[in-house]
Amino acid sequence: MSTSPAAEAARRRTFAIISHPDAGKTTLTENLLLAGGAIRAAGAVRARGQTRRTQSDWMKIERERGISVSASVMTFDHDGLMFNLLDTPGHEDFSEDTYRTLTAADAAVMVLDAAKGIEPQTLKLFEVCRLRDIPIITFINKMDREAQDPFELLDEVSSKLALDPAPLFWPAGSGGRFKGMMDLRSQQFIPYAKKSSTDEEGHPDPVAFNGNAIVQYLDPDERSELEDNAMLVTEAGKPFDVQSFLEGHMTPVFFGSALRHFGVDQLLAGIGAYAPAPKPAKASKAGAETHVAPGDNEVSGFVFKVQANMDPNHRDRIAFLRLTSGRFTRGMKLKAQNTGKAMSVNAPIMFFASDRELAEDAFAGDVIGIPNHGVLRVGDSLSETGSLRFAGLPNFAPEILRRVRVKDPLKAKHLKKALEGLAEEGVTQLFRPMIGSDFIVGAVGQLQFEVMADRLSNEYQLDVIFEASPYAEARWLVGERADVEDFENKHKSAMGRDIDDQPVFLGKSAWEIGYVAERYPKVRFERTKERG
Ligand code: G4P
Repeated sequence: MSTSPAAEAARRRTFAIISHPDAGKTTLTENLLLAGGAIRAAGAVRARGQTRRTQSDWMKIERERGISVSASVMTFDHDGLMFNLLDTPGHEDFSEDTYRTLTAADAAVMVLDAAKGIEPQTLKLFEVCRLRDIPIITFINKMDREAQDPFELLDEVSSKLALDPAPLFWPAGSGGRFKGMMDLRSQQFIPYAKKSSTDEEGHPDPVAFNGNAIVQYLDPDERSELEDNAMLVTEAGKPFDVQSFLEGHMTPVFFGSALRHFGVDQLLAGIGAYAPAPKPAKASKAGAETHVAPGDNEVSGFVFKVQANMDPNHRDRIAFLRLTSGRFTRGMKLKAQNTGKAMSVNAPIMFFASDRELAEDAFAGDVIGIPNHGVLRVGDSLSETGSLRFAGLPNFAPEILRRVRVKDPLKAKHLKKALEGLAEEGVTQLFRPMIGSDFIVGAVGQLQFEVMADRLSNEYQLDVIFEASPYAEARWLVGERADVEDFENKHKSAMGRDIDDQPVFLGKSAWEIGYVAERYPKVRFERTKERG
């Protein structure tokens, strides 16, 4: 087996799963790991899905950080390919984290509940994938339950997402009448056995749709219905075109039941066959734009996630580095582009389904965890020379702003440090208004504040109060420096700075922002900010 960085990168498939809560992401994750031989029995990931639902349990998971850290990425070797499955938190309050994780993915599997189709969170996440040109594979889940007409589901994909759906399989019935699916290309029928689940016997082997064995699985009516539908979808739809998929115009569609481990092997094979290997990444070097190819000799990558360790006595954190090029080996020195600081990466961690292991080497597409003491931040670019800078890690305008105060006024200094720490980790955003000494924290969802309060108390011994903020909306200002400064000077009472010292307009309402923006066409009021 070749081990050149280019050849190793070519066998990486780094992907994430996006879905609306409850569509079955956790169940599918587990079944993909099962299909890939990474776990032996169902149950390992399941516990997370179950406990995640309630807020107190979520916090317990946050506390038992070991679990959630090791589950941020799961790596498994299957069929000659290395799959890196990035975990995206399911709760919508953590969507910001999800967005960042997607910057590290080369493809996404979009899970739809067959009875519900495209739901609000699916749409939001899809938009991020589109923004980043991440090709999408669709998995229509829960076919073992009463489903919408598959033609309608495809229509929805095409009208709501403006994506051409290209089904590779076609289901026979759904719910109690679900019999299996036809592989539209090989004309094989893959029977579904009701009783089968993730364990023991599995589903029967595929049979030729036009052969004699089909009568065991489909009665004549079911057979002719499936034949008609398959013909209709083949004739009416566009055939699957890998190039169009890679360019984000088309999505291959798979059907199945994650819970019953049906259609999951086909999905994994599809990810292996069609999801792209790591591509060259856009970067800048000494101010000039460049491309970093996965096969380049220089090791490089970017931090897309930072998670603090739960041991409050050692404030070390794990930075998740998505490698973009080269052959990383343990003990290697990497330099951060922004600080120029070099660090020896002596204890890089690779995450396998149930274990963490020290990574001896890793390649483009892989994710390694680097323990550090707060040196590394989300958006940092690391490389051997320290000269590469990768763009593209978004911060989103928070949907809720709160003023935060510490109950014990003597601890105000402490609070600043703690808030900065959490903001650097991406737990919440932090804004310092130009006037006054308040801290305004921003989040996408209420739960983030609760997690924050919990962590401030446990890790920093700070009891805080969140109060109503005089501001309701935050926007990053972009434009010529002189124009932005001019605007800042004229609106001091509504200006603040974020953790990177970027100017932020703090508005009392979206209406106010629209009003002000109209009067200052030279300044843009951005809802997202890209670090790096
Ligand atoms: P999520 O991570 O996207 O939020 O979804 P999760 O996998 O936790 O699944 C949500 C619910 O849907 C779970 O049921 C799960 O068992 C069920 N589910 C997932 N895939 C399938 C499928 O293919 N078919 C059927 N019938 N159900 C499926 P729950 O009752 O909420 O939880 P639990 O009590 O089963 O754990």
